[in-house]
Amino acid sequence: MNISFSYNNALTTEALTQYQAAVKAAQNELVQGTGLGNDFLGWLHLPTDIRSQLDDIQACANMLRSKCDIIVCIGIGGSYLGAKAVIEALSSSFAWLEGNKPAIVYAGQNISEDYLYELQSLLRDKKFGIISISKSGTTTEPALAFRLLKTQLEKQCGEAFAKECIICITDAKRGALRTLATQQGYKTFVIEDNIGGRFSVLSPVGLLPIACAGFDIYQLIDGATKMMELCGIDTPFEQNPAALYAATRNKLYADGKKIELLVNYHPKLHFMSEWWKQLYGESEGKENKGIFPASVDFTTDLHSMGQYIQEGERHLMETVISVLEPQYTLHFPHDEQNLDGLNFLAGKRIDHVNKMAELGTMIAHVDGGVPNMKIELPQINEYYLGQLIYFFEIACGISGYMLHVNPFNQPGVEAYKKNMFALLDKPGYEAESAAIKARL
Ligand code: PA5
Repeated sequence: MNISFSYNNALTTEALTQYQAAVKAAQNELVQGTGLGNDFLGWLHLPTDIRSQLDDIQACANMLRSKCDIIVCIGIGGSYLGAKAVIEALSSSFAWLEGNKPAIVYAGQNISEDYLYELQSLLRDKKFGIISISKSGTTTEPALAFRLLKTQLEKQCGEAFAKECIICITDAKRGALRTLATQQGYKTFVIEDNIGGRFSVLSPVGLLPIACAGFDIYQLIDGATKMMELCGIDTPFEQNPAALYAATRNKLYADGKKIELLVNYHPKLHFMSEWWKQLYGESEGKENKGIFPASVDFTTDLHSMGQYIQEGERHLMETVISVLEPQYTLHFPHDEQNLDGLNFLAGKRIDHVNKMAELGTMIAHVDGGVPNMKIELPQINEYYLGQLIYFFEIACGISGYMLHVNPFNQPGVEAYKKNMFALLDKPGYEAESAAIKARL
């Protein structure tokens, strides 16, 4: 079984077929490396290319797991979201209360003083490890967190422990993190030049934290490899899930559906949506173009966003991640008194109720003018998450080329950094500092 994509509740086959040629052209650009940003296509073959590193990644994870109560993953954007998405999807919803060791926590994904203070308090008197992830090695948020936590670790657990339990994942040669790692003798893994942050989850960036959390990175890569085969250039259009997804969302976009909501019915997929939002938002949102990626967790958000989705402005499309089989089985009990009137559900699985909510919502939203795409995930496990990740990545590459943008750069991200550095009087930003302060 594999993950599958369906568009029946979004478009007719005739409407979709009009996009076949555009998809093919985009796929060719991607595979032949002739499109914009073609120096960032290393992720295309990552499922096969990364295999030779898996044992080393696993050995490093085993070492950290044996020595640390807590492992802090430092990174932001593509250097954080993929690992968090997979770890949350595979972990118990209450993992933080269950006391499993090592616990995985995150830093460098914000600059909140309270967050960092609370994290430092949590780590006090604990044996902890650090995975510091930054491709550029110069991003402010993770660099700031790294200095704080490295100092704490050295004081708390000693220089030798810190040296062993700090792992850096960064560029092979460039950047402050590489310089620091070399100088201190930390173990490192490399983010290849041709892999951008948001396409890096299947590299050590995602795989080391995932392995540290105790999940099977070999299965994850097997799943991604399978999806690579299923979405190959020779797969006919109507059988290629990524081609169909790219075509459907671009046709809907052309029809005025400017916002795509990624929907889940299992809250542990929440961060998969956060990862997806970065992947699509940063890849497509440029040159005043691009579908706005948003997400909702159902049925929770049916009681907050449901009204808007049903009856608000008609610029929405939905993509539902539908999980065929949950990990556990739970039947609803019979109650003699039936005061809540729910005996009609007695003996049924909770998942049956969830599935009927899913079906009922899909019909209501389609009736309300929100086209629905569906991605069926047989189960939430490493193998199918590997499939899902590669599916979204390759569909994103195709979709970006259909939009005629460079899906692999992110020039817009620099604007806030420039202003922040100017406001902080960073050396080298004197002119920008004067200019921005004059505006305040
Ligand atoms: O997708 C991207 O390239 C970005 O989101 C980066 O991953 C993010 O800005 C972090 O960059 P770095 O890994 O260089 O610290």
